[in-house]
Amino acid sequence: MLENKIITNKTCGKLYIVGEYSILTAGQSAIIKNVNIFMESRISFSDTDEYTVFSDMFDYKLTLEKDTFNNENILQNFDKNYLLICEAISVMSEYLKLKNLEIKPFEMKITGKMERDGKKFGIGSSGSVVILTIKSILSLYNLEISKEMLFKLSSYVLLKRGDNGSMGDIACISYENLIFYRSFDRKRIRELIEKETLEDVLETDWNYEISELYFNEKEPNRKDKNSLSCEFLAGWTKEPAISKDLINIVKSSICESENFLKDVEEIVKKLREAIKNGDKLAIKECIDENGKLLENLDENIYSKKLKELVNATQGLDICAKSSGAGGGDCGIAFSFDERDTNIVVEKWKKLGIELLYSEKL
Ligand code: PMV
Ligand code: MG
Repeated sequence: MLENKIITNKTCGKLYIVGEYSILTAGQSAIIKNVNIFMESRISFSDTDEYTVFSDMFDYKLTLEKDTFNNENILQNFDKNYLLICEAISVMSEYLKLKNLEIKPFEMKITGKMERDGKKFGIGSSGSVVILTIKSILSLYNLEISKEMLFKLSSYVLLKRGDNGSMGDIACISYENLIFYRSFDRKRIRELIEKETLEDVLETDWNYEISELYFNEKEPNRKDKNSLSCEFLAGWTKEPAISKDLINIVKSSICESENFLKDVEEIVKKLREAIKNGDKLAIKECIDENGKLLENLDENIYSKKLKELVNATQGLDICAKSSGAGGGDCGIAFSFDERDTNIVVEKWKKLGIELLYSEKL
């Protein structure tokens, strides 16, 4: 008999360091950083015959009947705000059946909406809420799974919902770390999802790579440890951008650009090495070069604010670029000098850009 207690879980956010857009092509890679701003959940088995789900993103409670997740095509009539959460619950119900566990209704409350005054931070809330729902249900049943399986299950949910992203956000948030990600062929897996059982899809090799990267200081035993000390900064433009729409706009620019994929791939590989070796100069080159490639790729990526965010670092021991789809949301920076960090943060403030997050690496 499972004890009915309230269990808490949390998931982080993420920001692209390099490789956005090119990662949309299967086999290309990116480096993505966890952002430790968290979404939290409280879950317990329901006292009644109903599921209740509440998220402060929407501020109202969704109540569903006990048998909801035993039916096929249950998602047709669902509340559109809660679609991602419901799809995650539906996939997890199927997963529980695979494990021969009895599906029982629960109450789940999600808080920490990754936004302020109705403006999202742009750090991956939709990916985060899917992973949080999955983690919450697993914890309710005392199930532990690998990060790899968490990545696959969460990607499964998003692909089933027709998400057009690379799943880089899911990779980073599942691993809660700075990661290198080589993307898989989502079209192939989407087709598999339609044809095969959940079990078969999860057992299939999706052909991707996720490797956790660390700055040297976190690995005291490494031989090549050096004294690189830097601070990761995320500047928030307070201009919400919709990745899905930007992807559709920029897609054609990627096809037309002859060298974009090859050039970005080289930068990603170089940055992976530079991070490993603590090579400040190379880190700066990679960030600058990838920023320029994105700026030249499509005019929608660098909004005025994002240009200002980067320009504010001129003359300082800091490199910066837009992050993710661009068009607003956040830009990222690495600062190698504490005084310069203070200077740039002040400059950003005057430009209406807020330091959303900082972390010493
Ligand atoms: O803006 P974000 O954080 O949602 O990042 C989007 C990154 C893209 O490469 C443009 C799309 C994707 O899913 O990889
Ligand atoms: Mg974005």
